[in-house]
Amino acid sequence: MSDRLHDAFAYRADEDNTRVLHVEDVPVPSIAQRLGTPFYCYASATMVDLYGRFAAALEGTRALICYALKANDNLAVIQSFARLGAGADVVSEGELRFARAAGVPAERIVFSGVGKTEAELAFALDEGILQFNVESAPELARLNAIALDKGLRAPIALRVNPDVAAATHDKVSTGRRHDKFGIALERIPALYAEAARLPGVTLMGLALHIGSQITELSPFETAITRVVELALRLKGQGLPLTRLDLGGGLGIDYGDDRPPSVKDYGALLSRLTAKLDIELAIEPGRALIGPAGLLVTRVVYLKEAGDRTFVIVDAAMNDMLRPALYGAEHPALPVAEPDPRAPQGPVDIVGPVCESADTFARDRLMPPLQPGELIAFGQAGAYGAVMASSYNRRPLVPEALVKGTAVATIRERWGYAEMLARERRPDWLA
Ligand SMILES: Cc1ncc(COP(=O)(O)O)c(C=O)c1O
Repeated sequence: MSDRLHDAFAYRADEDNTRVLHVEDVPVPSIAQRLGTPFYCYASATMVDLYGRFAAALEGTRALICYALKANDNLAVIQSFARLGAGADVVSEGELRFARAAGVPAERIVFSGVGKTEAELAFALDEGILQFNVESAPELARLNAIALDKGLRAPIALRVNPDVAAATHDKVSTGRRHDKFGIALERIPALYAEAARLPGVTLMGLALHIGSQITELSPFETAITRVVELALRLKGQGLPLTRLDLGGGLGIDYGDDRPPSVKDYGALLSRLTAKLDIELAIEPGRALIGPAGLLVTRVVYLKEAGDRTFVIVDAAMNDMLRPALYGAEHPALPVAEPDPRAPQGPVDIVGPVCESADTFARDRLMPPLQPGELIAFGQAGAYGAVMASSYNRRPLVPEALVKGTAVATIRERWGYAEMLARERRPDWLA
């Protein structure tokens, strides 16, 4: 089953000659011993490999790979991509600050999002970022005013809503007419011409992002084709256009998905934009960090109820929300390599939180499991730790980064004392 995971994850013999799941050269149980469970851990080698695939796929174009921080905003993760040459796609002042703290140069940062506040726009202007992806006429007006006030010009792209259904989960589709993102395609020419006249902005081009976990090339092809046609029209009218930001969204394999390769995705982008001969930016998140992460948890109890067997683990929806939010399922691997002859049976893998949605897998075929055993959820590097909370007063989950034989704790588990210390009681309760 580990063949679904990146090569950095494999069953190998540990020091005691027991075959266990490794992250690069580190046995998973040794990280569990150090951090306790549950925890996330990431393989540096996978990040390097995946970034390299994007860079290779876009060779020959003038493309900047802006890692979408929303997928995983741990400082060490951002810094790992920054070291490889990545820029950043941010959607808040917090993400912008983290990108800068991780060493991403401001001139490699694009700022997306429908609700950028005045304070966020001002902060990003002062930082001198590469581009604001403007998502509405009011945002354009506000950014222009703030920039004028500061005696600056804001480099902008207008984000196009191309009205394309991305064949993905409803909650991660962003490019349909009724989605809140971007500006309707037919409204762009007028707004673009207006933006060209504004003294507080410099018009760089157009931006696009149609959704996430997209596992076919056709929605990308349709959307990019529409945007390239639009770009050609705008250029034909003598309007400035030097960059196209094509967003992120490339899917990964959670089990039954068969996403296109990064190579084919890159080839499509190159082909569709060739006529324009301009700078490109892309904003991959999931496809860069998803396959690099595991969420490791320990079996607490086995419980038989009716005709079901529940494997109750110590990770919960507060640690990884995707199953509860999207009905997503992740590969689940026993950390101790199962005997291939062991009979497999259907189980429900559930967490301890008081919600039925706290279910990681239903009717999953697993070999026999024992309380105390470790299970690793694969493909958990993206939209995992970032969405974690302390719901049910569970301390925020820690994260580790592996590189060869080295392990670093890159976010510590919150302590109960720390959680208590952040609370304040009003005088009237004293
Ligand atoms: C504007 C924007 N860019 C990039 C991304 C990253 O998407 P993904 O992680 O699917 O590559 C998102 C996420 O939905 C987004 O909203």
